[in-house]
Amino acid sequence: MPTKVETDSVTGTETTGHEWDGIKELNSPLPRWWIIVLWITIIWAGVYYVLYPTLPGWDGLWQYTARKDLSERLDAVRAGRAAWTDKLAVAPLEEIEADPDLLEFAIAGGRAAFADNCAPCHGTGGAGGPGYPNLLDDAWLWGGTLDAISATIEHGVRWPQDDDTRISAMPRFGVDELLTSAQINDAAEYVLSFSGSATDQAAAGRGREIFAENCAACHGESGGGNREFGAPRLNDAIWFYGGDKATIVQTIAKSRNGVMPAWGGRLDAVTIKQLAVYVHSLGGGE
Ligand code: HEC
Ligand code: HEC
Repeated sequence: MPTKVETDSVTGTETTGHEWDGIKELNSPLPRWWIIVLWITIIWAGVYYVLYPTLPGWDGLWQYTARKDLSERLDAVRAGRAAWTDKLAVAPLEEIEADPDLLEFAIAGGRAAFADNCAPCHGTGGAGGPGYPNLLDDAWLWGGTLDAISATIEHGVRWPQDDDTRISAMPRFGVDELLTSAQINDAAEYVLSFSGSATDQAAAGRGREIFAENCAACHGESGGGNREFGAPRLNDAIWFYGGDKATIVQTIAKSRNGVMPAWGGRLDAVTIKQLAVYVHSLGGGE
């Protein structure tokens, strides 16, 4: 119920004339600067709505979107690289290594792709770890030539994707009761004797025959390994899973069956070539 405007005796401010149950409203409007800022922001929003893609279906007068901007820049980068990727796509692996410029481009791309896809298992620099082979040294499970490396990357190991996947399975000598635990112990001592680290010579002696009958077909008569089966060399003191007795006993008893994903369906052919060249260049390439 509007009553008359008067001056409040406590604050000295005029009232608006509104009064409820004896409580009167003082007339103290928002500061002018505040109102001006409010209007500026409202006008700003209006202009923004018109210039930029603010509403569904409205691309704005400027026709700018960050998404379009990004894809244009990516196209420009791809166009800049196309000359190289086209060359890589047709060049055989050996030719890439023979051409210093192409090699440099392949290694740069391979290094980036390795960091993205391979480093979680093989380590940032490719040094591996227990169960994940070191890609820097001369010890290869499946071969260290350009073609062998490229085939491992494309088709994977024990990764059922295509007919060229590398497959082999070391038997579980303990779990499947092919050998007793005493025989497994002797075989492990014999394996250790290849690198001169057997501690029980009598056991190692007994292990020789067990090895010849059960293991030599894959690992070779004197533990030289066999790349056809991805069976590691056992006489080089380089260990894939570990060279202490307990680890070797566990490998023989339970087997390991390491899995390397096949990258054929996930990475394009040029990236796989770059990776093969990169891995080959790491130091152990044959
Ligand atoms: C999920 C883990 C994992 C990832 C990711 C992975 N690898 Fe492997 N890789 C393995 C394992 C395990 C082996 C050993 C397989 C075996 O037992 O023979 C292996 C083996 C290899 C070998 C064969 C080594 C030899 O001695 O013959 C090459 C080469 C290789 N990986 C390269 C790559 C590259 C390149 C990438 C990335 C595109 C990659 N790996 C990603 C786990 C992985
Ligand atoms: C069918 C082939 C095959 C037979 C038979 C076989 N192995 Fe293996 N062995 C492999 C393969 C393949 C690996 C690689 C491990 C993996 O990733 O599965 C391996 C790995 C190993 C390793 C681990 C080496 C490392 O560097 O860590 C040891 C030790 C070993 N085998 C010992 C034996 C012994 C001892 C026997 C006999 C009692 C035997 N193997 C029989 C295929 C075989």
